[in-house]
Amino acid sequence: MEAALELINVTKTYSEANNEQIIALNNASVTINYGELVAIVGPSGSGKSTFLSISGALLRPTCGTVKVGGIDLENLGDNQLSDLRLDKVGFILQSSNLIPYLTTLNQLLIIKQMSKCGKVTNNDIQYAKKILSELGLSAQLKKYPAKLSGGQKQRVAIARALFNNPDIILADEPTASLDFEKATEVVEQLKKQTQSTKKAIVMVTHDERMLSYCDRIFSITDGTLTEITTS
Ligand SMILES: Nc1ncnc2c1ncn2[C@@H]1O[C@H](COP(=O)(O)OP(=O)(O)O)[C@@H](O)[C@H]1O
Ligand SMILES: [Mg+2]
Repeated sequence: MEAALELINVTKTYSEANNEQIIALNNASVTINYGELVAIVGPSGSGKSTFLSISGALLRPTCGTVKVGGIDLENLGDNQLSDLRLDKVGFILQSSNLIPYLTTLNQLLIIKQMSKCGKVTNNDIQYAKKILSELGLSAQLKKYPAKLSGGQKQRVAIARALFNNPDIILADEPTASLDFEKATEVVEQLKKQTQSTKKAIVMVTHDERMLSYCDRIFSITDGTLTEITTS
């Protein structure tokens, strides 16, 4: 089977105003399989967000190959990339980025409304409720984000990322705004969902206490990605 995410010799450079080049990602190669929860650690400015943006087809690499669910992104146009993001990628950000005027249930359903076949069916509603219930949010379906705790909001963000049944979920410091207990709940959910849905989840984190939940750990230093062998 194809890998969920594959990067082969991927480099991303940015040009500064003074014509200096910043190498944000330096010849990174990695294969992430379905069912793996992977952590990326590294200091600020080391290239973590660049790695996630390239993996999620939000940013094109300067050179190298990126494949999501076996699909090589290189020859896709902007519209195809945007379709691929809707179909195959889920994003979870540091602040949950929920829409203030939508209830928990509608945070998920709006994704369907924005897609090509934008009609929400009864099946969609049942599916959204099932995911939210697995994440312990059944009592929050009708609540607006302002009435949710930080941990609940991040769990809604996880549910939203799962709703379109993506191949990979990319999480940029999903626990950074949470206390330890809430952060643990969120990472436990990510772990459970990787296993039960066989998705690949890549999580950037600063919190070493979350690493024990992860199947593999990579560090990035000055754009260089290295796998840290545990056990
Ligand atoms: N759009 C951009 N233009 C120029 N430089 C950038 C841009 N985005 C990121 N960088 C630089 O690339 C490097 C890696 O950034 P980033 O991937 O955001 O790191 P991290 O997420 O680990 O903090 C940093 O030196 C950052 O300043
Ligand atoms: Mg970052």
